[in-house]
Amino acid sequence: MLTQLQTDQLKIEYLQPIETAKETENSFDQDIKKGLNECPKKIPSKYFYDDQGSQLFEQICELPEYYPTRTEASILRQYVEEIAQITGTCELVELGSGSSTKTRLLLDAYDKQNDGFKYMPIDVSAGILKESALQLQQEYSSLEIQGLVGTYHQALTQLTPTAWPARMIFFLGSSIGNFSETDYDNFLNKIAHVLEKGDYFLLGIDLQKPKSILEAAYNDSQGVTAAFNLNMLAHLNHQFEGNFDVNCFYHQAIYNEEKKQIEMYLVSEKEQEIVLKNLDLKVNVKKGERILTEISRKFDVEETRDKLESKDLNPVKVFTDENNWFALILCQACK
Ligand code: AVJ
Repeated sequence: MLTQLQTDQLKIEYLQPIETAKETENSFDQDIKKGLNECPKKIPSKYFYDDQGSQLFEQICELPEYYPTRTEASILRQYVEEIAQITGTCELVELGSGSSTKTRLLLDAYDKQNDGFKYMPIDVSAGILKESALQLQQEYSSLEIQGLVGTYHQALTQLTPTAWPARMIFFLGSSIGNFSETDYDNFLNKIAHVLEKGDYFLLGIDLQKPKSILEAAYNDSQGVTAAFNLNMLAHLNHQFEGNFDVNCFYHQAIYNEEKKQIEMYLVSEKEQEIVLKNLDLKVNVKKGERILTEISRKFDVEETRDKLESKDLNPVKVFTDENNWFALILCQACK
């Protein structure tokens, strides 16, 4: 690992790429090409997050209809001290460390234990990581920070054993809902593999609930989610010299009750030929045709507990809100 920024208590390091640069470049191209040639057409959700997209996501989290962020924060506010008491002093590893308010709730609780602690944020964006690490270091004097720049996959395959009494990996915001069933399974395998016996995993999941509440959360009245969805096309135009006419697509989010997932689409208002020059890609989109941009799966507590248990991640305690809309599951590695 290459040290990029280092003070006494703050380090930012880059994780090793898994593939060679050439292969990464190819697979980068390939996921869009492949997705746009499938039926129905798909574009991976990671293309939401350019600067504009990340900003729009922050705005989504503040929307009255978008209950997950608020609800998870309220659960944390109520139970962080209990979580800190259960785990005791530990190293806190956060996957996808965008959510600063929620992170601070955890850091506050561990700070109160007064034994010093360590925070390892992991994010693909070096800029966001550096900025928030510097900020946090000023706020928490006894905190040691080691930020890792890279993907979850890189992090989970490259984390070395901790020197602290235990480690807790946390993955909040129900981001796990974006994974397909296979990716979900592989992800939990990696978590179980990297944790040592006695270590903890804290997982935030959005729970199944009536369709009307779910669909409102992804079709907000101010149109921020629509702007977030459509921004993906602007991002692709910019990055790959594309010709998507953003004005000729509209946002659609529906709850698929059979698959228990929100599906977000961009629907074309006319027949058009899409060209992405830098990818040497041309595809025809028909009038009314939909491009799938995101799935957001909704979970059942019992099923999720069973799933975690099957990976030797023993659910120690489940925390939820009064409506049972969202849950945090604290598990402990038992092997
Ligand atoms: C960041 C993946 C958890 O699925 O609710 C919010 C993303 N998309 N509104 C989610 C999202 C549309 C969000 N996650």
